[in-house]
Amino acid sequence: MSNAALEMEAAIRVEAPPFDVAKVRADFPILRRRVYGKPLVYLDNAATTQKPRRVIEAITRFYEEECSNVHRGVHWLSQRATDRYEGARETVRRFLHAAEAREIVFTRGATESINLVANAYGRAHVGRDDEVLITAMEHHSNIVPWQILCEEKGARLRVAPIDNRGDLVLDEFKNLLSHRTKLVAVVHVSNALGPVNPVKAVVEMAHARGIPVLIDGAQAVPHLHLDVRALDCDFYVFSGHKIYGPTGIGALYGKAALLERMPPYQGGGDMILSVTFEKTLYNTIPYKFEAGTPDIAGAIGLGAALDYVESIGLPNIAMHERDLMSYATHALLGVPGLRIIGQAREKAGALSFTLDCAHPHDIGTIVDQEGVAIRTGHHCAQPVMERYGVPATARASFAMYNTREDVDALVQALHKVVELFG
Ligand code: ALA
Repeated sequence: MSNAALEMEAAIRVEAPPFDVAKVRADFPILRRRVYGKPLVYLDNAATTQKPRRVIEAITRFYEEECSNVHRGVHWLSQRATDRYEGARETVRRFLHAAEAREIVFTRGATESINLVANAYGRAHVGRDDEVLITAMEHHSNIVPWQILCEEKGARLRVAPIDNRGDLVLDEFKNLLSHRTKLVAVVHVSNALGPVNPVKAVVEMAHARGIPVLIDGAQAVPHLHLDVRALDCDFYVFSGHKIYGPTGIGALYGKAALLERMPPYQGGGDMILSVTFEKTLYNTIPYKFEAGTPDIAGAIGLGAALDYVESIGLPNIAMHERDLMSYATHALLGVPGLRIIGQAREKAGALSFTLDCAHPHDIGTIVDQEGVAIRTGHHCAQPVMERYGVPATARASFAMYNTREDVDALVQALHKVVELFG
């Protein structure tokens, strides 16, 4: 077990309430539903998580009782909506352990947050023959925005390799850092294979050369305790819907000094202090990056989701999911012809696999008939599939409400696939 995992388990003993998975499941209305007459077994949490009643109610309450625009009205309702929206920002700050709420920018999700940094920071700092360094385990959101930037600027995208187990090769990563590297962008937890990257070491290596680091935390936030100040990363991005919040909302954390120096990303209302046809003065951070009416209900829903996760306790969630991951790893290996893709030293959330006898899409279709939802395909990470020489995988991904019985249902369904195709 890693030091981080040991620290987390020690934390459980001192601060977290006891974990009761049945009680947690009761908080998620959708888990009561049946598909094809069978109980739903939802194992596609890396694609999106289900929402607890508390989040659904927070969004409904906003529309039923508090709906108004923010930062624009002197009337009671607008002030109330503004308080709730800014309250959600403070919740995100607390969750990430950022120093100040102005370091939290609401976006549509991890993808938009990365595009924001590529456009605002990247366009100002990356020039001809410069380099942006990513890793071989990125998903498309942390590849394509940098490719677009590099093509426009005549810069080069460099890719640090992963080994056969799925671990980042740190020495090679270090060797790729140079005076040309203007930004490092790395995933915290890979969506396709599940490895947890040594992001603290990555930040230290990059900072030793004065290079800022963006961490894509889309798959990390639901599973790992986060402290952006302890990590000392320059940017951290995530999506609300992967952590029990609504779709269409997420956040960018950026160190205040960097955000302040960055030009705006989009123009429009709220991101300005004053506008004339001759000149516009921009608003202070974070509003400079929040043009137009934001997703107010989404931000409130995200705040409710993070409050919910904190009430359950991330150390509890991590310990429960670690048990599921090791139970599932052993159980899946009992299925004839099953190969687990990616066996990194530390994994969180996702287990990717193939079967000798069936294409992943067939696997997905057959297990679906048994009520088991998994994702199949390239997981928006085609280069990762290429690295392992497979066109696609089947992926089971876990959340706090999953159980060993869910894993058993998946394994039983996989045996049916083997019977049919084997
Ligand atoms: N990136 C999401 C996934 O891994 C959509 O499924």
